[in-house]
Amino acid sequence: MRVLVTGGAGYIGSHTCVELLEAGHEVFVIDNLSNGHEIALDRVRGITNRDLQFMNADIRDAVALDKILNTFKPDSVIHFAGLKAVGESVANPLKYYDVNVRGSISLLAAMSKVKCDNIVFSSSATVYGKPQYLPYDEEHPTNPVNPYGRTKLIIENIINDWTKADTKRKGSILRYFNPVGAHETGQIGEEPIGIPNNLMPYIAQVADGRRDHLNIYGNDYDTSDGTGARDYIHVVDLASAHLNALQSQKILNNFEILNIGSGKATTVLELIKFFENAVGISIELRYLKRRDGDLDIFWADPSKAMNLINWQPKRSIDKMCKDAWRWQKNNLIGYA
Ligand code: NAD
Ligand code: WQD
Repeated sequence: MRVLVTGGAGYIGSHTCVELLEAGHEVFVIDNLSNGHEIALDRVRGITNRDLQFMNADIRDAVALDKILNTFKPDSVIHFAGLKAVGESVANPLKYYDVNVRGSISLLAAMSKVKCDNIVFSSSATVYGKPQYLPYDEEHPTNPVNPYGRTKLIIENIINDWTKADTKRKGSILRYFNPVGAHETGQIGEEPIGIPNNLMPYIAQVADGRRDHLNIYGNDYDTSDGTGARDYIHVVDLASAHLNALQSQKILNNFEILNIGSGKATTVLELIKFFENAVGISIELRYLKRRDGDLDIFWADPSKAMNLINWQPKRSIDKMCKDAWRWQKNNLIGYA
């Protein structure tokens, strides 16, 4: 298939491009490089020994999108492009609604013009909000508690309405939990700009000496050791879920929501222990108060994805730590 990948120069997008190319698909990436790196695409070419096309453009640019859709003529789109920092979305909600929501409308409008009828969308477990029961299944009520999560839920609903308007259209929504790790070559990985918001890249930067300690935000949560617990999923397992969803779309409902997680929760202290054992480096810790909005614990029921798209998470927490560290130590200043 010919697949347009928006945001393909980013963390999850670049890993998905590897899976798509290795499965023999043709790939075109549109990315405005606001958080992605063109070098990542060169690394993808190197890993797969295959080429892909790239345009440095914004998904809100209708002229650029029309050009790509009329020349590349994609069969499907995997839509990663967007902003993803919860804290930033609270401080600057209009930016998030403009990029994430307006950008998605722009993309769907361009797809409709050329009858490109299939989209796989990067959503987030953030849409669920405070758990009413656990693990989260796809029927759990959605009640996002920050602008970022609200943009994701709005886009899900837009895609739902878009598929209802034409029965040939297919929208597959992948709700990710906590992606971590990197491709085992150490050639592509997560490169947060500035101070990492997320736990794993922060741990890796303590391990390489860039940060002298890890702050643990709260150890009074209702979990086994008091620290927050999350469902960590290897980014390559996540990438393969996109490939499977794309290749299964013919048998999926026109609008399908799938949780993509490991199905188990790991606390901060447990993850640190896994990391220390995996890489042989101890992590200095400090305990601070909780971060606003953080939940105690949540994890996924991934059984629907495992059944419907013949997918399952294969990579262990130990592998997540080893692969994250290999990327970090081989790329101390990221893609630069
Ligand atoms: P990322 O920032 O590495 O990738 C996003 C890419 O989109 C970047 O390369 C960026 O340059 C590009 N981009 C942003 N705005 C754009 C625009 N207007 N036009 C064109 N390109 C644009 O983030 P990621 O971690 O790879 O996440 C990819 C998607 O998955 C995002 O939609 C994110 O919300 C979602 N997601 C991420 C996580 C996570 O923890 N990383 C969890 C759940 C969902
Ligand atoms: C994990 C745990 C923290 C950093 C976020 C977004 C979510 C999604 C994934 C986009 C929590 C603790 C963290 C640190 C710590 N992104 N922690 N010290 O908050 O579950 O999810 O990323 O869709 O939308 O909200 O991930 O990695 O930030 O935190 O103690 O320096 O680690 O309290 O318990 P989170 P995280």
